[in-house]
Order: sequence, then C-alpha cells, then structure tokens
Amino acid sequence: MNRETKRVKIAPIEGTLDAEVILPGSKSLTNRALIIAALARGTTILEGVGLSDDTEAMLAALQAIGVRVSIEGTTVTLDSSNGLSAPEAPLDARMSGTTARFLVPLIAAAGGGEVTAHAQMRGRPMKDLADALRALGVRVDGDALPLVVSGRVNGSSVSIAPGVTSQFISALLLSAPAYPDGLDLHLDGAAVSRPYIEMTVGVMRTFGADVDVRSDRIVVSPGGYAARRYAIEPDASTASYPLAAAALVGGRVTILGLGSASLQGDAEFARRVLEPMGVSVYVDPYQIEVRGSGVLDAIDVDLADMSDTAPTFAALAAKACGTSRATGIGFIREGKESDRVDNPVTELSRLGISASVDPDGFSITGGSHHHAAVETYEDHRMAMSLALLGLVESPVTILDPGCSAKTFPGYWEMLDRLRSTARSRPRVLAIDGPAGSGKSTVAKRLSTLLRLPHLDTGATYRAVTLAVLRSGVAIDDHESVAQAARGATIVVGPSTVTVDDVDVTSAIREPDVTSAVSTVAANPGVRIVLAEAQRQWARARGAAVLEGRDIGTAVFPDATLKVYLHASVEERAQRRAAETGDTDVESMAKAIATRDHLDMTRESDPLTVASDAVVVDSTSMSIDDVVSTIEALWEEQG
Ligand code: DC
Repeated sequence: MNRETKRVKIAPIEGTLDAEVILPGSKSLTNRALIIAALARGTTILEGVGLSDDTEAMLAALQAIGVRVSIEGTTVTLDSSNGLSAPEAPLDARMSGTTARFLVPLIAAAGGGEVTAHAQMRGRPMKDLADALRALGVRVDGDALPLVVSGRVNGSSVSIAPGVTSQFISALLLSAPAYPDGLDLHLDGAAVSRPYIEMTVGVMRTFGADVDVRSDRIVVSPGGYAARRYAIEPDASTASYPLAAAALVGGRVTILGLGSASLQGDAEFARRVLEPMGVSVYVDPYQIEVRGSGVLDAIDVDLADMSDTAPTFAALAAKACGTSRATGIGFIREGKESDRVDNPVTELSRLGISASVDPDGFSITGGSHHHAAVETYEDHRMAMSLALLGLVESPVTILDPGCSAKTFPGYWEMLDRLRSTARSRPRVLAIDGPAGSGKSTVAKRLSTLLRLPHLDTGATYRAVTLAVLRSGVAIDDHESVAQAARGATIVVGPSTVTVDDVDVTSAIREPDVTSAVSTVAANPGVRIVLAEAQRQWARARGAAVLEGRDIGTAVFPDATLKVYLHASVEERAQRRAAETGDTDVESMAKAIATRDHLDMTRESDPLTVASDAVVVDSTSMSIDDVVSTIEALWEEQG
C-alpha cells in the first residue's frame, strides 16, 4: 500500500488465527538509542531498527548534525567520532513527538540550531521542555515548534512538572550525560507514563550512563556514553494489534522477541488488558502468546501507564460483553497525534457502537457494528486499531490508511498475513477414558506444556446434573432434563465451573452429583446439547485439549490426536482412595466398575475406544511418563 491510498476495506476473517508474528523494532527504543548513538564515543550498531517516518526523521536530523549513518536492512551503524556540529538548516522532526522533543536538548549539547516539524506537531506541547532548558542556561526562542536553540548548557539542576508528557523528561535525561555537570532533575508531581521514563533509563544504563532514580528526582552523572552493538526489541505498542486480533477473531498469535524481559511498559498489555478480558496469555522472557475465543469480558482498566494502547482497548471493548471503561488517560486528549479519547468514541459511534467520553477516559458498551468508513485523523494508532473491528462481524473501511507508516509501514501486509493463517477446523487433542484413569491430571499438564486451553467435558455433564438436582426435576424425566441442559449457561474455566453465573466448582464433585451423573449423561437430549457446546468451544479457540468419554468418537471424530487413557479398576480405586483419604478401597472399586458399566453400555455415545485412538495404559506408568508419551505423539502431528 502506498502513502496516497485513500481507503482500505477490512473484511471479517473466517475461522481462527494461528500465527507467529515478527514486528518492527520499537520506535521508542530506536529513537532513544539513536540519540545515545549520536552522543556515544565510537561506532554504535543498532540491530532490528524500526524504520518508519518517525525514526527516519530522527536519522536525517542526526546526519545533519554530523553523525555518519549507514543502513543495511534493519541494521543501522552510527559513527559520531567527528563530534556534533550545529545544523545549517532547521532539523525537521516531521510528525514525530519523540524526535522533536529528544532533538531539542541534543542540539543544546551540539552548539545550537533550529528544530521544526509538520503542522500537526507544531500544535503539540513543547513549552515545559523549553523552560527546563532555559533553566539550564540555554537560550530557546519560542514555546512551540519551530524552536531556535543557542548557547550551551551551564547548569545542572532543574524542576519539571511531569503531567503532560513523559517525553520531556526522557528528552532531558538522554542528553544529560553530555552536559558538563550532568543533570539533577526534580519531578514536580507524579509522572505520567512512568514506564517510558524507566525505558529511557534502561537504555541509558545499557550504554554505560550512571543514572540514579528516586521517586521525585533523577540524577545523571556527566561522562557520556560508550558505543556498542544493541538489539532493538520489537515494538510493544504495535504488538497490541495482532494480539488484539487473536482476542477478537479467536485462535493463537505469538509475538516473537518480546516478553517479560522487555523494557517497554506496553509489553504488559497482554497480562493487564487481554487476560482480564478472558484471553489465555502465556508470557516468557522473549515471547508473548495469546489464545482468544472471540468472546471477551468487559473490564475497567487504568491505562495511565500504557496510554498508547488506549485505541486498541477501545476496539476490544466494542466487542466485549458489557460496558468497559478506560481511566487515567485524560492526558492523551492533547499532546498525541490526535485526541485519542474523543476520536475513538466518535468513530465507534459511527460504526453503531455505544461509546462516551468520561472525565479521564472513555466508556464503551460492546455490541454489533455495521459497515462504515471511519476517519483516522492522521493518527496511525486510530487507523491500526479501528481496522481490528473489521476483522469480525462486519467490514470497516479505513480512510487514509497510509498514516500507519508513521510507525508501521507494513501494517496492512501484516493483517493480510494474519488472515492467511486462518483455519476453520480446530486442532484437537482428544483424551478419552474411564473415571479415575488420570485424564484430568494429564490433560491439565498437557494444557500448560502445549499452551492449549483445556476443557473437562465431564464437568459440563456434572454441571447439568447439579442444575437438574437443584431444579427438583426427576433425573429420569428425559424431556425435562434435556430442557434443563438447553436452558443452563455453563462455563468451564481453567479452575472454576459456573452454572448461570453461580460458582459450582466444588458442588459438582459432591457424592449426590457423582451418583446421578451417569444417568443424566445417558440422556441423548443432554448429549446433543453438550457435544455441540463443546465443539463450539474448541472451534472458537482454534486448538484445545478436550477430555471426556466420547471426544474422539462423537464430539470430534476428526480430532488431530486421539488418546484413550486406560488403567485397571483396582489401580483407579487406589488412586481415588489416596486422593480422598477414604480407606474402603473395595467399595470404591465397585462404584468405579458400576460407573464404567453405565458409561460403556449406554445407548447414546457410549465410552468406547475409537478405532484410530492411541491406547495408553497408565496402570503402571507415572504421570510424567503418560504426559511425555502424549506430548511426543502431539508433536509428531506437527
Ligand atoms: O470425568 P467425570 O467423572 O467428571 O465425568 C462425569 C460423568 O460424565 C461420567 O459418568 C461420564 C460422563 N461423561 C460423558 O458421558 N461424556 C463425556 N465426554 C464426559 C463425561
């Protein structure tokens, strides 16, 4: 797509996603590392640089003040051994906030110069930064861009009100090691976007700066930076889009190279926003993986620390069950590319979603949207987030999609790639077997190991049984029991089971349910309802471990892998006795044998071994052995 493309129509994806995504390097880290490279002695090599409008503006400015730059793919080599010089022409930050703000203190260290920008950026705040430099002895003409800087820094102590943007603080810190006496920065109040300040300090320290951070004061020692090779992390704010796509469409998205070791605050988006909305999230130091089901819970969330993800959250909230609220983001109404509180509300309303502006954020009620063309306000995040809604239910036309090039020129191609991974048939690991064969323990362990959601289908039969017992309907009244199954809303979560929003996790394990469940499970009307619910559950997630009695035979006869887990009645009775503390192993064995008989002889979907199932007899195997046997079989399926 080129910059001039006027509109792009995003159509819904059929099926669920299954994608690994490599994203461009973080714009925030790239621009910080570029300033540091300009001030470092020697040659700095940056790998995985996110080349976009914003970072190209920074690179051009650095070249204009004497830094030698060479670019090969996403590797940028910078050499400033000739020193920095005042630029001959104004430096153009284009539409980039970090470039404009980081350059102003840098040219104070380089002997002065002028910084200008695109009209949109000229309206964004600069005054507090200009005042801070004035307090350090620099002459700054103007309070908004263009700004003319002359003279050199001759002080080190300055106060700043950190309310509008943390970029002023990061800007002052980044150039501070080059100032004659370093910097003693007092923060006059609570800082917004504190994780960005921590990111700045993290990169500075990696390049050898001495920075002491206290709650209301940051002290930087003079002494410059040491050049080095540095790999830029993938951009965490950008990662919010493919991750949200998995949450909305269903299925898996894995972001490679970004995880709990990240310096970026927005890397917390999956844990802090998606997980509470009901998405399965797995994070390790260098990877974030999510698996969505297309069903989202509404949440209230304070986004003060990750405000760039507010438009992404707005798109998710538009599809969540109930009303979601974002708070703590009043400050993003100004200072950003556009008003990111008002504009998402306006555009979602245009699509038919109920949304309103609050004093420090927005409220959005999830619902159906209709096709419309939405405005993007020259704001890359508006374009990228609104496009997500087009991936589900009804298309969305994005006006001026080229504005995404500000940080992610390849965004639309990435969405196409996600679309190409969509599959309509889920990958299912079916584990069937009689009571006590170890299915639940093994299925839970495999779920963690293989990062697949897990459904204990026995719990769904138990939940219906409990609902029937509580309603007073006789368990052999087939029609009424089937009706109760159709009417109950059953949710089996990773550790809880609810029926009509009531937590029944322990009640379904009580003896009255255990003795009635085989009769209810033999009811063909109940089986039809629950089997379809189980199919839908797995389809929405794209892949899953399901355990039960008939998964490989009736629910998913085309399962990817079918395991029949067996153990002798005596062994199963011993295991149950050890679990419950009951010493009457003999009567337990009898009860198990009776339940086996009922499960195996009922007319509707009896417990049998599917012809293509792998039988694993766990009688004399440890859990670890059973798990690793099945894990190896699953891996073989690719
Ligand atoms: O695994 P469990 O003991 O929680 O199962 C409870 C009952 O539900 C059991 O008697 C068999 C029945 N069931 C079934 O018929 N089909 C399934 N897929 C799962 C369980």
